[in-house]
Amino acid sequence: MSTSAPPAGDIGTNTPALPTPRGPLSDAVVTALAGSPGAPLPPAGRDVDPFGEDLTIALHTCYELHYRSFRHVDPLWEWDPELLRLRAGLEAVFLDAVRAEVGDGTDVAAVLDELLVEPVPGNGVSHHLRDAGEWWQVREYLVHRSVYHLKEADPHAWVIPRLQGQAKAALVAVEFDEFGGGHGERMHSRLFADLLVASGLDGGYLGHFDDVPAPAVAVVNLMSLFGLHRRLRGAMVGHFAAAEITTAPSAHRITQGLLRLGGGPASTLFFTEHVEADAVHEQVLRRDVIGDLLAREPDLAPDVVLGVRATNLLETRLADHLLECWHAGRSSLRRPLPPHPGPA
Ligand SMILES: [Fe+2]
Ligand SMILES: [Fe+2]
Repeated sequence: MSTSAPPAGDIGTNTPALPTPRGPLSDAVVTALAGSPGAPLPPAGRDVDPFGEDLTIALHTCYELHYRSFRHVDPLWEWDPELLRLRAGLEAVFLDAVRAEVGDGTDVAAVLDELLVEPVPGNGVSHHLRDAGEWWQVREYLVHRSVYHLKEADPHAWVIPRLQGQAKAALVAVEFDEFGGGHGERMHSRLFADLLVASGLDGGYLGHFDDVPAPAVAVVNLMSLFGLHRRLRGAMVGHFAAAEITTAPSAHRITQGLLRLGGGPASTLFFTEHVEADAVHEQVLRRDVIGDLLAREPDLAPDVVLGVRATNLLETRLADHLLECWHAGRSSLRRPLPPHPGPA
């Protein structure tokens, strides 16, 4: 486990190792990637759990070839037709299940407004972390989120060439903030790596991956799915807006929880950075990105709704998993973390 901070602007220098398989599909993918491109792969099949460990890890492993890839994996695998065929099958199972859960809709403003309405009293993960969460639960939360935050905003960059005019310009302005406004040490992914290290965790890219269960990984798969397919550009934008709308209030609550547990700036910076920034990003996404996109391509409204609702669906599944485990007094990870004294 690396305990030192990565160099400025980098999330460690590591290319991750291939993950440990969690079933026959992920085993087929991992085994194939360890060998030469062109090897035959099995079909995805339709009888696999669309939200289960096996499919989720298989799909994530396919997607990672487009990000940092893995140690000792031939780069030609990224565009290997057999692997892309299997990936398409996995994506179809996953996306069909998501669509079946969220249904159809075209009222973008209404679904975005729904996200702003919070139950009173709040019962989400950030409410728990603010009011009663223990340090080991905060650390587990950071580990779940590390799968995304160490590549924060990368999946949304895929959509840039698929947008035009004001929608493109405004989305890039938000991405500029996410990527540190020109400063490597201010990239949100880097701030998160610093937070992991300050919390006694591995700040390396995918450093905790084998310990993270499917619900947190599925959240990241959704972004890669929306980002990598031009036809789903509306859903990617909907996802981005949903994430920005919900982040500011939850980042504020987590900051309060960290302060209650004795944390200082090293623990809270990532979250305080998001309280102000995402209040602005939310407005830009709603007005300039979604507004302009739908003015140009009104037929994308159902996809924007899909993106918002799918994000909410998978975040809710993750929250349910975390709170169910914690309320039962057990770890929400596949392997509990070693004890750690408290926040920095
Ligand atoms: Fe961010
Ligand atoms: Fe943001």
